[in-house]
Amino acid sequence: MINYLAELNSEQQKAVKTKQGPILILAGAGSGKTRVITYRIAYLIQQKYTKPENILAITFTNKAADEMKTRVLHLLGDCRDIWIRTYHSTCVRILRTSLCSRKDLQELLGVSDNFTIYDEHDQLSLIKECLKELNVDTRYFPPSLAASRINRIKQDLRIPESIDEVIREIYKLYNKKLIEYNALDFGDLIMKAVELLKNDGPTLDYYQNRFKYILVDEYQDTNRAQYILTKLLGGKHRNLCVVGDDDQSIYSWRGAEIRNILDFEKDFPDAVVIKLEQNYRSTKTILEAASAVVSNNEYRKSKVLWCDNEVGEKLEFYAGSDAYTEAAYVARKILESKFKGKNLSSIAVFYRINYQSRIFEDCFIRYQIPYEVVGALKFYDRAEIKDVLAYLKVINNIRDSVSLRRIINVPARKIGYVTLRKLLQYSEMNSIPLYQVLQ
Ligand SMILES: Nc1ncnc2c1ncn2[C@@H]1O[C@H](COP(=O)(O)OP(=O)(O)OP(=O)(O)O)[C@@H](O)[C@H]1O
Ligand SMILES: [Mg+2]
Repeated sequence: MINYLAELNSEQQKAVKTKQGPILILAGAGSGKTRVITYRIAYLIQQKYTKPENILAITFTNKAADEMKTRVLHLLGDCRDIWIRTYHSTCVRILRTSLCSRKDLQELLGVSDNFTIYDEHDQLSLIKECLKELNVDTRYFPPSLAASRINRIKQDLRIPESIDEVIREIYKLYNKKLIEYNALDFGDLIMKAVELLKNDGPTLDYYQNRFKYILVDEYQDTNRAQYILTKLLGGKHRNLCVVGDDDQSIYSWRGAEIRNILDFEKDFPDAVVIKLEQNYRSTKTILEAASAVVSNNEYRKSKVLWCDNEVGEKLEFYAGSDAYTEAAYVARKILESKFKGKNLSSIAVFYRINYQSRIFEDCFIRYQIPYEVVGALKFYDRAEIKDVLAYLKVINNIRDSVSLRRIINVPARKIGYVTLRKLLQYSEMNSIPLYQVLQ
């Protein structure tokens, strides 16, 4: 049995044990936000307040979802029936299940249940196809710009009035093609789920009844579409527990609205608000320095972080004359720590943008410091993996022309650029999918 008294401080216990109604947990970094979510899930089940299948816990990344599953598994010994998922995977599951047996919903959303999911690369290929068809010069209008505008519209669930005519055209054609190819992009997953729940009473009823308890980690990162989705799903039972840190909002560039956390109390006036201010992760020195920086933030709920941990080492500030001196300095510091007996796996180097890793990597190789680059080229982004996935996508959804084009000449089967161009022109002119042209 979990000893909630020993393992949680009093504020954390309040968050875990509040049985009903909306709860807003405002907390700083390392104050046990994720711990509260996992213990709350365990508590709800152990107290028999609800069954595992009636709980939905939302995280922001797959990695965070896996981590949360591991933590719940550790507490309960089983977490199979609990939905611990990202917003995207929650929506994929809702969409596929709902579309499976309902032709009317397939018509409403434009896709069937075996839809393909287009990632950023597929999206860019499709946008390039649209720009070509619309004769838009990519030197003046780069595909990545179009992508970010399109994503923004989907995240905000609205087309801005002041929208550029060109974007409007691209947006229209791009969505038309997605439907033709039976595909959804990341933004669609949330947008279409919202559309589904707003337009189909029985589906909304089903999920509102199903999710008696909803918990959202990193709530400060929700965008408007995710916010609306959360409100829809939690609309009946209103047992919505959101956990966030307004000082850690790092996704405003992709539509995250800090407003969602700041206004939670307006949306739910009866919300219980709990602040977690004890930090368990850092030394006093680090905490003071971090607080000094974030206290300059303009939009924030005031909170004062404190900790019981040791004072720790002083921070050091060093400005190298160039990137190479900087990297060499960091390498020497790492070696110093190593000689003092520190484990290399307890050391992290942060940099601002990916390309900056190269100079550090060169330097670490020279100094013979073993390292691991986290979050660089992902497994699913590797060319050969994308090729295999494209084959599987085409097998599952023959209308997916973006994937079909990727593999049409992989391995080489003498379908060159000119032939492909002709096939595509024929497909465009006659409005028939590429696979049919091939047949
Ligand atoms: N009451 C507690 N007693 C002991 N350790 C705790 C307590 N609460 C949290 N911790 C520990 O503090 C660390 C940070 O907890 P957790 O990851 O839940 O914080 P968080 O607020 O979610 O952090 P982040 O801001 O990075 O998301 C973990 O190692 C956790 O086990
Ligand atoms: Mg956390």
